[in-house]
Amino acid sequence: MSVKPRKILVTSALPYANGSIHMGHMVEYLQTDIWVRFQKLRGHDCIYVCASDSHGTPIMLKARELGKSPESLTRELSEEFVRDFADFGVAFDNYHTTHSPENEALTVEMYEALRERGDIYTKSIQQLYDETEGMFLPDRFVRGTCPRCESEDQYGDACEVCGATYSPSDLIDAVSVLSGTTPVTRESEHYFFRLSEYGDRLRAWMEEATLDKNVLAKLEEWFAAGLQDWDISRDAPYFGFRIPDSDDKYFYVWLDAPVGYPASFKNLCDKRDDLDFDEYWRPGHDTEVYHFIGKDIMYFHTLFWPAVLEGAGFRTPTSVFAHGFLTVNGSKMSKSRGTFIKARTYLDNLDPSYLRYYYAAKLGPTIEDIDLNLEDFIARVNSDLVGKLVNIASRCAGFINKRFDGKLATTLPDQALFDEVAAASDEIAAHYEKREFSKAMRRIMTLADQANRYIDEHKPWVLIKDESQVSSVQAVCTQGINLFRSLMIYLAPVLPAVAARTQAFLGNDEWHWSNASEPMLGATINPFKPLLTRVEAEKVQEMVEQSKQSTTKADNSAAHIGIDDFTKVDLRIARIDKAEAVEGADKLLSLTLDVGDSTRTVFAGIKAAYRPEALIGKHVVVVANLAPRKMRFGVSEGMVLAAGPGGEDIFLLSPDDGAEPGMRVK
Ligand code: 2FM
Ligand code: ZN
Repeated sequence: MSVKPRKILVTSALPYANGSIHMGHMVEYLQTDIWVRFQKLRGHDCIYVCASDSHGTPIMLKARELGKSPESLTRELSEEFVRDFADFGVAFDNYHTTHSPENEALTVEMYEALRERGDIYTKSIQQLYDETEGMFLPDRFVRGTCPRCESEDQYGDACEVCGATYSPSDLIDAVSVLSGTTPVTRESEHYFFRLSEYGDRLRAWMEEATLDKNVLAKLEEWFAAGLQDWDISRDAPYFGFRIPDSDDKYFYVWLDAPVGYPASFKNLCDKRDDLDFDEYWRPGHDTEVYHFIGKDIMYFHTLFWPAVLEGAGFRTPTSVFAHGFLTVNGSKMSKSRGTFIKARTYLDNLDPSYLRYYYAAKLGPTIEDIDLNLEDFIARVNSDLVGKLVNIASRCAGFINKRFDGKLATTLPDQALFDEVAAASDEIAAHYEKREFSKAMRRIMTLADQANRYIDEHKPWVLIKDESQVSSVQAVCTQGINLFRSLMIYLAPVLPAVAARTQAFLGNDEWHWSNASEPMLGATINPFKPLLTRVEAEKVQEMVEQSKQSTTKADNSAAHIGIDDFTKVDLRIARIDKAEAVEGADKLLSLTLDVGDSTRTVFAGIKAAYRPEALIGKHVVVVANLAPRKMRFGVSEGMVLAAGPGGEDIFLLSPDDGAEPGMRVK
């Protein structure tokens, strides 16, 4: 009976290209990869695409901090991601970037289609603006005191202490994270998408998309609160795509990020003749599209994205599968405890098969968080994979190799037991299909227990000593190897590397799911090589230690600097020779400083505290070797040190007793 293959397109959320992949990310990529491998093993045409999410303010600023262009930062990180994913066995059919021509063309096409139908409008909004940096500030780049509970140093969108959500302009004593100055409110014209008009269409989509009940509950909550129109633009400077009918407005990263899904697929279509873009992305085709995501980005994927697709004349996703977060040893990943583990640090110490299995054993279809408990990880992997699974093969292979020239018997001594394993095929497949991986793993391990029991009962190591029983040894071991083979086929989506080694050992070509129900008899197998070794607790410990070092190095650099770093700072006395207001900047003064060997222009945010003429001749402390910074008003060639809470209360550090321009400050 051959079933018509389904045509399925699968995506994982696109990782931001501004930091390394870690164990938390891997939950999603492994969950998706297992599901995709399962579909392929079942004979379906399943395509898995992904890309780096390369736009937005954090990436632009990170690149600036590292002295790179955002293009090269995202390119370098994408290369790192591709290596990490490949080494974990995540097999994308295509990996692309959102900073691509395909993505720009599709984003503009969608935007123009929405504009044509009247779903885009512009409106002036007020936003916080950093005059020193010359840019509008995203919520996360403003900190201040919570307007509700008055906790200090909270983000611009929500208070981590009392949970209040607010707009950054509500913060008390708001400060720009970028320059440390007080932001001002400025008006700017923004582009909005009329999400509020999409309620009925989104409800219709939500009913046919068979979403998990937690996702549905969230959607109901959002519908009840009322759908708000969505601001899809950002002002320059911004790393992204410019909005076609504007001079200096860019698409907000969250508009073009999900377009990265069809854009990556388009990039693949251009490399492969057998794929038709429209079949997967225009309405009316018999194809399926699934997005795997984390629970934190459901709003974007279940409201904005289906609405944009629908409005722009594209097909909507068949479903969106959300998962929970990862905790390590029961808590949020922690840099100081060494549980913030990067993908590469894991790979440097441990076999990826362990983590693939452990996550599978924990994962279900809900948004519940999963815990990577490192002790349980060692115990579970050693007991299930090494103690139960691989043990079946290693207990049987040696006898077949040594005593029977690698030849398997031509019949099974216990057909009923083999049939029992074969009969579990549909149940296990149904678990995989529904992303009930933990149930699938449990069922497979119960069958592995039965296989081990069979070998324990028939004791080939005892039979081999009795010459009259030798043929039974071949039969028992053929049974064992066949049970192992069927279980390995069931596990192939989770353990592709072990499956490949098993295929080489058995001399099998590509497997299909149905092969698990067909015994392999009379064939010659190859010499047995260990398929998987035990997890060593010391290696896990080493990984934790390395994680402490690799991540706290970066942290400490913010909290403490070494004496070497300190001596790099050229602190000098300077005399202010000229001071004047800067046109267009409410807070800045332009200072001309005599720093001993030269004069410099430095912009300082002290206008509210000092009249320019009062500064002439004053001595101040400056950082003389700060890299010049290009600002909207000119280049700033250093930094003047001052103290105080800001605004009018800024006090220049002004050593006047015997100070001479150029003196070093020690
Ligand atoms: O939350 C994130 O990490 C985003 N980079 C995910 C984007 S998914 C898709 F929309 F691009
Ligand atoms: Zn608060």
